[in-house]
Amino acid sequence: MLSEARNEMLTQTGRGTPMGEVLRRYWHPIAAADQLSRDPVRPVRLMGEDLVLYKDLSGKYGLVDKHCPHRRADLSYGFVEECGIRCNYHGWQFDETGACVSQPYEDVANPGAKFKEKIRITAYPVEERGGLLWAYLGPLPAPQCPDWEPFGWTNGFRQIVFSEVPCNWVQAQENSIDPVHFEWMHANWSTRLDGKTGPYAPTHLKVDFDEFEFGYVYKRITEGQGENSPLWTVGRVCLWPNGFYLGDHFEWRVPIDDHNMLSVVWAFNHVPVERQPFVQDVIPSWESPIKDARTGRWISSHIINQDIIAWVGQGAVADRTQEHLGASDRGISMIRKQWFEDIEAVKRGEDPKGLIREEGRNARVPLPNASQRPYGRMSLDEMKRDPILSKSLKDFVFHYGQPPEVRRAFEEAMGLR
Ligand code: FES
Ligand SMILES: [Fe+2]
Repeated sequence: MLSEARNEMLTQTGRGTPMGEVLRRYWHPIAAADQLSRDPVRPVRLMGEDLVLYKDLSGKYGLVDKHCPHRRADLSYGFVEECGIRCNYHGWQFDETGACVSQPYEDVANPGAKFKEKIRITAYPVEERGGLLWAYLGPLPAPQCPDWEPFGWTNGFRQIVFSEVPCNWVQAQENSIDPVHFEWMHANWSTRLDGKTGPYAPTHLKVDFDEFEFGYVYKRITEGQGENSPLWTVGRVCLWPNGFYLGDHFEWRVPIDDHNMLSVVWAFNHVPVERQPFVQDVIPSWESPIKDARTGRWISSHIINQDIIAWVGQGAVADRTQEHLGASDRGISMIRKQWFEDIEAVKRGEDPKGLIREEGRNARVPLPNASQRPYGRMSLDEMKRDPILSKSLKDFVFHYGQPPEVRRAFEEAMGLR
């Protein structure tokens, strides 16, 4: 349970708020490179700031304020040039550092006036990793943008999925350190959604939590599972400060503002041995709907859709003054404590947890991986016989609504068609 003041402190994302300042020390995935190749200008709202992400004609990315500093027009209707983005109102143009590089009429009327040099637009750095575009909104110099090891895996079909979720990001991230919900929300509820009353999944007997450099891990023992299972010896990763890593996919809970977040999923499926070498030129990205337009109810058929029902069900901002934490929630208390320590560290002018400052140390950063099965060395027939892989061959299990063209590309990659 938290006091109202502590709950507010944890969940506010704006510039100048304690947690908003912590969040601004990290890189956040805000879009896919694939989206910008299709449409080079995109409005983005991040931690309450309205911005415009673009890819200029030379291939450079920029992230700038939504409003043009001339007369405040909306730059998400601007167009890209060889260098930067141009406002569609009077043609002022800005590069990725925020410098004004062209003012068409001013340049003619007063060529020597240097008016341009006095104009800047707020601009933030953008980097590409794993087909995702990452933004950093904090003080410079920025820490290194992590290139997590799975981003460099080969012979896999990768895809990126986005959903806008109408709730605060903290309650979603608390779900990343919650082993027991898996048994109920995913296993047993799915059984009931299937119209069956059982059998229920093996029950949790023991959970544990550990800290490591880039986050926390949760570990579980369920009925019938030995202590040598990687789910106990390795665990799953609550990636700091707003990610989740499960071996075959990542999830990030990116704050749009205090009451909305962008759920970002990066998923990897090894292709069967007979399809290797496999090279995927473009990582496709798509948006998953979360509400059933017909009934107005949340979609419950897929794993992360189920999680989303828990997150939004807690309210736009979960009221932590009314909760009752038990033994299953020890991990939640640990990460809250860490967030509050991070708030204090940032106030003292220090770095919060898990930043990488050393140049080069961000390359192929390894993470604990509890699903180290012989993936990547299996034939399609073997995959079809594997209880987990056979499901993911039939459907994208994490999110509802995979577009047919992504399904087709997946089937081709796997040798299913
Ligand atoms: S408002 Fe953007 S150029 Fe005038
Ligand atoms: Fe879940």
